[in-house]
Amino acid sequence: MYILGLNAYHADSSAAIFKDGILIAATEEERFRRVKHWAGFPSEAIQFCLREAGITLAEVDHIAIGRDPKAKFWKKIGFLLRYPTVGLDTVLSRLKNAQQVSALEREFANMDGTVPEAEIRRKIHQVEHHRSHLASAFFASPFEEAAVLSIDGSGDFTTTMLGVGKGNQITVLDSVDFPHSVGIFYTAFTQLLGFPHYGDEYKVMGLAPYGQPTRVEDLRKVLVFKPNGLFELNLDYFRATKSGVVTYDSDHVPQVATLFSDKMAREFGPVRQKDEPLTQAHKDLAASVQRITEELIFHLLNHLQQRTGLKKVCIAGGVAQNSVANGKITRNTGFTEVYIPSAGHDAGISMGAALYTYNHTLKQDRKPAIWSAYTGSRYSNETIEAYLKSQGIAYQRMEDDQLYEHVANRLVNAGVVGWFSGRAEFGPRALGARSILADPRRNDAKDLLNAKIKRRESFRPFAPSILSEYVSEYFELDELTPFMERVFPIREEKRASIPAVTHADGSGRLQSVLQSEAPRYHRLIETFRQKTGVPILLNTSFNENEPIVNSPEEALACYLRTSMDMLVLENCVVERLPVEKSPAPLKFAGVKP
Ligand SMILES: [Fe+2]
Repeated sequence: MYILGLNAYHADSSAAIFKDGILIAATEEERFRRVKHWAGFPSEAIQFCLREAGITLAEVDHIAIGRDPKAKFWKKIGFLLRYPTVGLDTVLSRLKNAQQVSALEREFANMDGTVPEAEIRRKIHQVEHHRSHLASAFFASPFEEAAVLSIDGSGDFTTTMLGVGKGNQITVLDSVDFPHSVGIFYTAFTQLLGFPHYGDEYKVMGLAPYGQPTRVEDLRKVLVFKPNGLFELNLDYFRATKSGVVTYDSDHVPQVATLFSDKMAREFGPVRQKDEPLTQAHKDLAASVQRITEELIFHLLNHLQQRTGLKKVCIAGGVAQNSVANGKITRNTGFTEVYIPSAGHDAGISMGAALYTYNHTLKQDRKPAIWSAYTGSRYSNETIEAYLKSQGIAYQRMEDDQLYEHVANRLVNAGVVGWFSGRAEFGPRALGARSILADPRRNDAKDLLNAKIKRRESFRPFAPSILSEYVSEYFELDELTPFMERVFPIREEKRASIPAVTHADGSGRLQSVLQSEAPRYHRLIETFRQKTGVPILLNTSFNENEPIVNSPEEALACYLRTSMDMLVLENCVVERLPVEKSPAPLKFAGVKP
């Protein structure tokens, strides 16, 4: 049985395909379209999934789309009556989206041309947005029974959903409706702090450790915790949006409306313009927003834990991308085990809608947990060689043993390496398949990367990939974190040895690299460990102001327009300078970050 899952007409549109409940492929449409967060009909991703499964559209048994325009119909009518002007526009924009969703069969027919619309219509299942998030976490988890939480900006008129997953069923216990939203709260302050783009929230999270949470008590007027374990926003602090919180331009790029009201600007501003310097007040506000968001997540989870009595929890949704909060869950709630999927944000809706259909709707037996994010594009050495030759690019094809030695040596000698290996990741993090790597011991690694490749805000940290066997040696917690979804404190005695991946507060957003799921990446880090004693590499996504590279063409283009030292495309190595001519002097640790 083949199930195709979709996130369509929504930011981070994507497709995923399952055969008899086993994930075959999943990918974001942005990787093909080369436009970040691309939000239309994911035809390229669908065609990729069908190719990977080796089938045609006619052979797909079920199509699951993570969107149900009928969801919360009466709540929407209530909203319309309460806020007639704003409400009408919001509902109209949602109706437009509903029309798009119901025109899905036409899109498929246009794309494929062989399957009649009526036949496609019969295959379609509409799965509500938050149930899709919940399914993307619970049905991919190793847990037979767990509490579940979905939390984001909004989807299908809901912003937060809590429940229980047991076997192949999910039961919803509670939800919070639009416009009361932790995502909207965080985004409004992200905008106030001068980061206006869709997806900029992680910059506030990165800035927070430089400030003190001095404004938390003031924020309690804005984000109000309720004794029943839920919350609401004080809407005086938010601007009512006429066209919807997130709209899409003709190029399918998500645009976020200005969400903060004059009152918020007066009490928490002045509003920072994009390129103005960041002051201590900005940093303190970021720290405060992050702190109260963490508290709110613990408030939701602690009530959920007490209500269900369960010790395991699965979490998804845009707010579940807050890796700092995620890393504190087991220390601040009654939950002892946490599962968060690699695509916890809206791209994961495709996977979740398919999993919901397979497990919950069709009542099939659960399948093994998903620990691999490597479900995207792949290229053989032969294809890569043919491409490099066609471009006249000099390269060396190396056997595995030589390859790991050669790359590790380059990293030890101040090299910045583009590492393209195996299937691309599904989700926002590069996890050693489409990554740029560097030596984490260097004090100047950040400068090196910024000079050679990425011009980004100096406060943003780089992340460590660590062999899973060594996590407890370097971190204060040892929880499985294969998707870089959690931030943990780095042991104090280790911080000075890996300054390039130690954030201002002594934490690191780690990826624990599993030999079973990422054998080649694991072996590269092990080779580096044998040379240096450090089982860690600095890992940042392979891109430069664009979606993560997907193909050898994009990897080579990125390599050529930056000053990266080495490009590794599977076993083919392209280099700028031999190791012995490396110009950068070695600067090693010893200074506390
Ligand atoms: Fe969502």
